[in-house]
Amino acid sequence: MTTPYPGCPAHAPGTITGHATGGFHTAYAHLRREHPVYHDRELGLWVVSRHRDIDEVLRDRHRIFTPAHSYDPVQPTDPEAARIYTGVQDVPVAASTDPPVHTRYRDALTAVWPTSALQLAPWHTHIEKRAQEAAKAFAARPTRSGELTADFARPLTARIMSDLIGVAPDNEPCVIDGSAGMADLLWSFQPPAEQQRCAQAVLDLWNHCSHLVGRRRSEPRDDLTTAWIDHRDEHGAALTDAEIASTLMEVLTTNAETLGLLIVTGLRHLLTGDGYRRLAQHPQEAPAAVEETLRMDPPLIGWIRTTTRPVTLAGTDLPAGSRLLLLMHAAAHDEDHGVRDTLTFDHRRRDTPPTLAFGAGVHYCPGAQYTRLVAQHALTALTQALPDLTLTVETPASRPLNLILRRPMALEVAW
Ligand code: HEM
Repeated sequence: MTTPYPGCPAHAPGTITGHATGGFHTAYAHLRREHPVYHDRELGLWVVSRHRDIDEVLRDRHRIFTPAHSYDPVQPTDPEAARIYTGVQDVPVAASTDPPVHTRYRDALTAVWPTSALQLAPWHTHIEKRAQEAAKAFAARPTRSGELTADFARPLTARIMSDLIGVAPDNEPCVIDGSAGMADLLWSFQPPAEQQRCAQAVLDLWNHCSHLVGRRRSEPRDDLTTAWIDHRDEHGAALTDAEIASTLMEVLTTNAETLGLLIVTGLRHLLTGDGYRRLAQHPQEAPAAVEETLRMDPPLIGWIRTTTRPVTLAGTDLPAGSRLLLLMHAAAHDEDHGVRDTLTFDHRRRDTPPTLAFGAGVHYCPGAQYTRLVAQHALTALTQALPDLTLTVETPASRPLNLILRRPMALEVAW
């Protein structure tokens, strides 16, 4: 028996788009309880909100739920925007493929990209150095104030990734614009002119990645692009230039759109309570602060899968071709976890539930350990450089609402 609830997204199609603004927990709890899988007519998506159901979809080994359409735009695409980025759209990436194509991409990706703490060990010093430089530069601002997303987190995460991939600092704006353009084109709702601008930014980034592969073929360097060119599978086969460019594109865009958000979201929670000052005194608590941020506000609020055949999920019959919006943010606060005060940020809590922030199953994020490491160093470096930082204003950034990514915010701070 369904309880009437005025803000119920299942009864007011389209209201789920508001989840990116935050403050959506009452609606999420209602969805988990009453409509764990419902069809949002305005979005044309089936929304899934419970941890156990999302986990089941992500761990599917029978290709009932495919990621093949994860990168299809949720908005009706402007024909001119579609024309601009035709070709780029058709290039597969690991996150949009099923085995055996996925296995080929994933194996090549992880043969070069370090996925474990042990493999990441040689990068520690460099990441720490970059984080300290960024914190020092931020602390040296003559105004003794700044904005944490634009002036600290984004440049830091872009710089570390550029060092690894081999992107020249001059080209970082192309990476940042192309990544934002892709996220806005795919998962937000925008007028045609804006879609065209985003499509052009995505195309520019694609061209940049393709040129980078071409340059490294003629002039190898000690970077990951060169390592992907040199990579051979067990049969001695190399990746094509297009496959390497799409791998670069996937790694660069994912990094640019998620990692800075994680850092700034964590800083917002820490600065709102007494967590920031505590972390300044106890830097060893940085890993726990990152985990608590992932629990409280995962940077990806949702992700997409599509059914390949009729299936029943949480008692709801889904026809073949149903597109699902898996609400990781709703799953993070699932009552099944039995977490006390789930809406309180407390990085000293002991009850840390399993997280779907980085997905699950064969597509589990290969950047998860790297992300944790960079975020930990970023929090440590900033709290050490500026132990008396205070939050002055929090404003939503100018980017449009996005169904998948937490809304980027601007955090003004002073010291
Ligand atoms: C806060 C940061 C991040 C979050 C929340 C995040 C989240 C995710 C999630 C949920 C998936 C699974 C997608 C699916 O099931 O289809 C995923 C996959 C992926 N992530 Fe991340 N990610 C983050 C950072 C990164 C970084 C820094 C990289 C750079 C290497 C990266 C590279 C990838 C790739 C390549 C995949 C596709 C893997 C595959 O399909 O096998 N991610 N990520």
